[in-house]
Amino acid sequence: MTQLIAPPAATDAPAEPLGGPWPASARPGRGGDLLVGGVGLAEAAERFGTPLYVLDEGEVRARARAYRRALPHADVLYAAKAFLCSAMADWVADEGLGLDVCSAGELWLAVSAGFPAQRILLHGNAKSPEELRLARRLRVGRIVIDGPAEIARLAALVAADTPQKVLVRVVPGIAAGHHAAVQTGVGGQKFGFPIEGGDAADAIARVLDQPGLELAGLHCHLGSQITQVEPYLRAVDALVGLLAQIRDRHGVELPELDLGGGHGIKYRPGDEELDIAEFAVRVTDRLAVRCAETGLEVPRLVVEPGRAVAGPSAVAVYRVLSVKHTADGRSFVAVDGGMSDNPRPALYGSPYSIRLVGRRSEAGTARVDVVGRHCEAGDVLVRDAVLPADLRPGDLLAMPAAGAYQLSMASGYNLVGRPAVAAVRDGRARLLIRRETVEDFRLREVGR
Ligand SMILES: Cc1ncc(COP(=O)(O)O)c(C=O)c1O
Repeated sequence: MTQLIAPPAATDAPAEPLGGPWPASARPGRGGDLLVGGVGLAEAAERFGTPLYVLDEGEVRARARAYRRALPHADVLYAAKAFLCSAMADWVADEGLGLDVCSAGELWLAVSAGFPAQRILLHGNAKSPEELRLARRLRVGRIVIDGPAEIARLAALVAADTPQKVLVRVVPGIAAGHHAAVQTGVGGQKFGFPIEGGDAADAIARVLDQPGLELAGLHCHLGSQITQVEPYLRAVDALVGLLAQIRDRHGVELPELDLGGGHGIKYRPGDEELDIAEFAVRVTDRLAVRCAETGLEVPRLVVEPGRAVAGPSAVAVYRVLSVKHTADGRSFVAVDGGMSDNPRPALYGSPYSIRLVGRRSEAGTARVDVVGRHCEAGDVLVRDAVLPADLRPGDLLAMPAAGAYQLSMASGYNLVGRPAVAAVRDGRARLLIRRETVEDFRLREVGR
């Protein structure tokens, strides 16, 4: 049986921003619709089909601008792994951000879209020789060295008269982030060179020995969905300590310090998020203090936010396909997407909020599990969601904070096909990425 947990909802709320995890432009529309970027989500779903990812261009731009404002003297690189398409590359380039890419695919897409290669930084714990060659051919600004084999591999590609700027990724031994799978600031995981034990110092010495490699600085990335500034302050301490050791041992002062990304966002109303202005002030101050203590010039700060730019900028819209109430009192609302377009709940147990759009309900609310359409019991998008008790097939559900690590991690499971992406701005919607069809899968087959 459906369990009623609240009195019937009132009629339309006033047309105020929804706040919380929603884009700043989100406000109630007519007939229970929800406007994002001035476009009704139900209207967009009618036009483009579902599942649909609605990307608010204004929100992406505003978030990019907020970083530039908070950190005017830093390099802000958008982490493409959160979500990349040509439009996204255009918007962040327009707003003055650089780009962090971690594969030849991301690199190639960005450069093909016209993103200036000099403003691109290439990551990756297992860059192939082809990726390194492509990065050199396209003249990417910086490459982050993540493993010992890469030092010689990259040096072999570089002529001494056109040196490659590199950073060395180090592991400061700081645990932060929402899930063990994304905690990269500690030992026992595959990324970077640990400071403790001397791996980082050895790698740095080897890089400095290569005439074709210009060591510009140190890099670290602590983890994801970090909502407090303190871990970043500890990272500054650790990395400035290492910069001072490098100066003492090699007589060089490195001009850049990259603290990676990991800035946390709200997925549900009431969630915490990293306060970017506070981050900027406290990290910049701490860097100045530690550098003064060690007699170092203050290096240029680099940050690589992905989620905090893309995440809150998109809303996923699903259509309900079935509603099932079981004898043991559970209710399952199955939608036309799921773990193939959003693997985060299945991978990390990530919580989300979700709401009905496109009609008003006078019914009370009920606790339901919003589940996907895939052949796996773990395909649950939102556990214990509070939704109208009269949900029925055909209804539309909208999930905020859907812009990061959903489509970029989407799979072809069950050959369902990845959703379409539409951009909204000033009351207009346009398709950026069409829906993937079974014909797309079939076209990749070249034998039987
Ligand atoms: C090296 C590096 N930089 C930046 C990011 C972006 O992190 P976020 O999207 O959490 O800001 C990641 C994410 O995994 C990363 O590995």
